[in-house]
Amino acid sequence: MKPFIYISLLILSSNPTEAQNSIIVSGKAIFEHKCQRCHGSDGTKGLFGAKNLQISRLENTELISIISKGKKGMPRWDKKLSSTEIESVTAYIKSLRK
Ligand code: HEC
Repeated sequence: MKPFIYISLLILSSNPTEAQNSIIVSGKAIFEHKCQRCHGSDGTKGLFGAKNLQISRLENTELISIISKGKKGMPRWDKKLSSTEIESVTAYIKSLRK
């Protein structure tokens, strides 16, 4: 099943916490493939000056904007990820915060 269909089904499911957890699980898979090489599995690696995602306090709209459009050494992802995938990876990186 394509990830976005899977996510949509879960968003529609009756249990919101379960849906949220599943979004984070999808976001983790995206993070491991696309983001981990610079940010590290726990968000602290900092390759090429990548920001430490554990201490980042940006809000959703700013996170989505930076992930979509990029910023300095941070590549843009709006051509490579769907908006649902960007939302999932945003939920996942927020779950790395301490
Ligand atoms: C080629 C290395 C690289 C990759 C791959 C990468 N990033 Fe980044 N990221 C950076 C750099 C460098 C910055 C710092 C940009 C700056 O100077 O503000 C950054 C900053 C960020 C920020 C802003 C954090 C803050 O508090 O300012 C977020 C959020 C982020 N990255 C998320 C992601 C996500 C999600 C992915 C995968 C889809 C990803 N990054 C992939 C290098 C990378």
